[in-house]
Amino acid sequence: MMPLVPLRTLLDAAEQGNYAVGAFNCNNMEIVQAIVEAADELRSPVIIQASQGAIKYAGLHYVAGLARLAADAATVPVALHLDHGTDYNTVIACIRAGFTSVMFDGSQWPKAENIARTKEIVKVAHAVGVSVEGEIGKIGGVEDDIAVDERDAMLTPVADAIEFYEATGVDALAMSFGTAHGHYKLPPKLALDRIEAVHQRTGAYLVMHGGSGVPQDDVRQGIQLGIRKVNIDTELRESFLSEVRAQLAAKPKEIDPRKILGPARDVLKEKLKDKMKLFGSAGKA
Ligand code: G3H
Ligand code: 13P
Ligand code: ZN
Repeated sequence: MMPLVPLRTLLDAAEQGNYAVGAFNCNNMEIVQAIVEAADELRSPVIIQASQGAIKYAGLHYVAGLARLAADAATVPVALHLDHGTDYNTVIACIRAGFTSVMFDGSQWPKAENIARTKEIVKVAHAVGVSVEGEIGKIGGVEDDIAVDERDAMLTPVADAIEFYEATGVDALAMSFGTAHGHYKLPPKLALDRIEAVHQRTGAYLVMHGGSGVPQDDVRQGIQLGIRKVNIDTELRESFLSEVRAQLAAKPKEIDPRKILGPARDVLKEKLKDKMKLFGSAGKA
């Protein structure tokens, strides 16, 4: 029986042990169950995260309630995190609903305004023991079709990342170092030097957004250099839905959703376990 824990607690331990904790997006009960069962079976700390879209789909209190029940049933520490929160009211509603961590993504604003808005969130969240992830620079989607020199221009300058981290006091830092959300057309090229520079100079716990499809060696190297949280969504969606499709094709007359969603949950659980082993969090709880 474990209460939800703040993200900071998980990432402090990850820094000590030089590994990363997986932050897995959830949208429904089966996904939450797969995340926590995989973590429990591998003795891994874990982060359940919900985007604003997930909250809109499932309802804030369902998301918070599901995660709390899952954590209660788990014997490993679990954090519940808001992914890419873009407005103050959503962040506050999540804190009130029991989230133990929030991302405030102020990347749509110029740096000074992003810093000011993020500081305000940090002040409120820390007052009630909730952790905060901030974002400096823009982590794009792979649909943003851009040339290599343009891509480099979109990477977060090290000086900006350090300035943002020191000015805001966030617990975890998302910056643009070459990953993107969604499917990669070509394998991403990570600016590992930027990860290393920011982590070495500040001790910041860096977050890898767009973790789906990043080659395993790059993930391992990033973790060696200071990545402490890896976000995965696209690969989970694919593994869950490809099994749903396979089950529907194999059992066209099936009318019991449990016979379709149950096997999909099992397949997803194995995918999650692979990620926990890759991130080095397995066996750390
Ligand atoms: O970074 C975005 C996550 O993959 C969540 O996506 O907004 O469609 O839930 P979503
Ligand atoms: P992917 O969907 O590319 O795995 O990215 C997930 C993410 O960064 C959520 O914030
Ligand atoms: Zn993201």
